[in-house]
Amino acid sequence: MTKVLIATEKPFSGKAVSEIRGLLTEAGYEVVLLEKYGSQDALLKAVEEVDAMIIRSDVVDKDVINASRNLKIVVRAGAGYDNVDLEAAKAKGVVVMNTPGQNANAVAELAFGMMVYLNRNKFNPTTGTELRGKTLGIHAYGYVGRIVGMIGKGFGMKVYAFDPYIDKVIIENDGVVSLSSAEDLYRTCQYVSLHIPANKETRESINYDLMNLMPQGATLVNTARKEVIDEASLLKIFNMRSDFRYLSDIAPDCAAEIEQHFEGRFFFTPKKMGAQTAEANLNAGVAAARQIVNFLDRGDETFRVN
Ligand code: 3PG
Repeated sequence: MTKVLIATEKPFSGKAVSEIRGLLTEAGYEVVLLEKYGSQDALLKAVEEVDAMIIRSDVVDKDVINASRNLKIVVRAGAGYDNVDLEAAKAKGVVVMNTPGQNANAVAELAFGMMVYLNRNKFNPTTGTELRGKTLGIHAYGYVGRIVGMIGKGFGMKVYAFDPYIDKVIIENDGVVSLSSAEDLYRTCQYVSLHIPANKETRESINYDLMNLMPQGATLVNTARKEVIDEASLLKIFNMRSDFRYLSDIAPDCAAEIEQHFEGRFFFTPKKMGAQTAEANLNAGVAAARQIVNFLDRGDETFRVN
């Protein structure tokens, strides 16, 4: 019998798990559930006999790929697949997919949740600031970036975007001003929301020179990956500019230093939680299950990333 492993260190909601299970059982597959497993050894063991795997930010490295005997497909229920060794998978003939867009709304809402939270001084009763009338820059106009733009306009912000891979017409049709360089975006916008993937080109690409272009009231919002920030630059800009603030879905490695010196100018979620809503769990989890069935039963490789 075809076995599908749901390996989620950060579990889906119960409802999402039961819908995923229902869909896979209906297709004639057996479901193996591994949640909050703590150590990579548990994942190495669980992967041995399965044909397919649904993961979230779970690390699927060479060891995991090589520990599997029957694995044919890994679906990352979410957008970013920097946690999967694509080459190791390819070398072993394992298809890797993601589920683009399925959790985008949850991530976009968190970006604004963090902005409002910090602007209202973490809800202490002192005087805060508003988003209306401020400039918002979207760095990468994918599924999340687009929704951030829509919500930003709802807040009355002036919205700009930079994305070299998206046609300017698509951006401007959404009523968003398309800028032709990252430098222009940072120079123009008080708030910059990051939606770039983490890869060789983008790792540590958000550096001091870029951040320092931001006008007074600079707030960098990172619901992408902490790895895209150059942390030496981050500490430098916190030191050089008293107006600079940083919001991040998961703390940077240099969090202790920021927490010690820059009270009131940052907020970090304790665990990556942009996609942690009932809706996003359901959308991404069920999409992943469906993609597995479509691939194993019909050879459909839509959303393949390796
Ligand atoms: C993504 O890349 O889709 C998000 O970062 C969500 O990750 P998560 O499923 O681990 O919460």
